[in-house]
Amino acid sequence: NNYVAIMAGGIGSRFWPMSRTDMPKQFLDILNLGRTLIQATYDRFAQFIPAENIYIVTAQQYKQIVMDQLPELPLQNILCEPSRKNTAPCIAYISYKLNQLDPNANLICAPADHLITEPAAFVDICLKALHFTSHIKALVTLGIKPTNPNTGYGYIQYESLAAGENIYKVKLFTEKPDKELAQTFLASGDFLWNAGIFVWQVKNIVKAFEHNTPELHEVFDAEKAHFNTPNENEAIERIYPQCTNISIDYAVMEKADNVYVIPSSFGWSDLGTWTSAYETFEKDYLDNAVGGNEVMIFDATRNMVQVPQHKLVVLQGLDDFIVVDTADALLICKKDKEQEIKDYVAEVKRNK
Ligand code: GDD
Ligand code: MG
Repeated sequence: NNYVAIMAGGIGSRFWPMSRTDMPKQFLDILNLGRTLIQATYDRFAQFIPAENIYIVTAQQYKQIVMDQLPELPLQNILCEPSRKNTAPCIAYISYKLNQLDPNANLICAPADHLITEPAAFVDICLKALHFTSHIKALVTLGIKPTNPNTGYGYIQYESLAAGENIYKVKLFTEKPDKELAQTFLASGDFLWNAGIFVWQVKNIVKAFEHNTPELHEVFDAEKAHFNTPNENEAIERIYPQCTNISIDYAVMEKADNVYVIPSSFGWSDLGTWTSAYETFEKDYLDNAVGGNEVMIFDATRNMVQVPQHKLVVLQGLDDFIVVDTADALLICKKDKEQEIKDYVAEVKRNK
């Protein structure tokens, strides 16, 4: 039986100031497509997974937003975390829960905030991955051909011999390498970016937690009898304070020896940062991507500009910058320093 868990608890801090802690980017229609990112993600999976098997894992704080944006989702399929512990505990929660419910559950774990422009190709690849994991003890991730030495992604090197149709065993998984290493990976030509979309049988990811992050396993395993009972929330309240804050990439993917990758192409964009949005926006003749109706640009190139629809903005002489204005905050940041926006936001919060 196939399930999907949409991970939607992040705060999207690299997308500040549009993405805010109380309304992060997964709940926004960043690209003006008519659906928010989480709605578009739901639509993609609803094509081949029944609504009762679609789960959203998010922070308690966002439950009402999820209910408002996805009224078709059964209420009990919104799993709320009492604190933010990154993706490993998030995935452990849904996995240990489903493992009690359905020992043969086959699960896709996907971010809520990606852009996918070729949904049909995406569905094909998901079905192929689900088929593979239904009979092989594999942790599958989808890989994307890299185009630049981005330090915000995981990098995957795989064996040359296929283990299935276009499925390869992973040799090396390196999460968020530094610039130099990312450049080496890119130059070598045999690395892929990790798309952050994972497929596995829940019993196998549970085994992977047990083997690679026993401290997380112990915490969830000790409480598993309470999952799918009226005591589930109380159990989760006990579990989360004991969880380490760690992403699935560091907790499992870098360590496990049964990781496989499917080189994929489905018009994927992480929308993790302003420049990834820049890539997908239409540009003017000076390569500026402009969101806003009254922006005037003179002698300025390759900027990412996002301002309120009816605010008059004049830009002169600026190259390769991110300019984002909202009602109460303005960001002007060099494009190549955007990974640091996260740190600036943390600093802003400290000073408030
Ligand atoms: N429920 C829940 N709880 N969801 C979370 C949490 C959490 O504590 N933290 C993050 N998420 C959600 C985010 O909302 C997002 O949809 C997804 O999990 C991935 O988290 P990110 O914080 O966006 O991860 P990343 O972009 O830095 O890195 C991951 O994705 C890259 C591709 O986009 C890694 O898997 C990289 O290896 C990968 O290349
Ligand atoms: Mg991300």
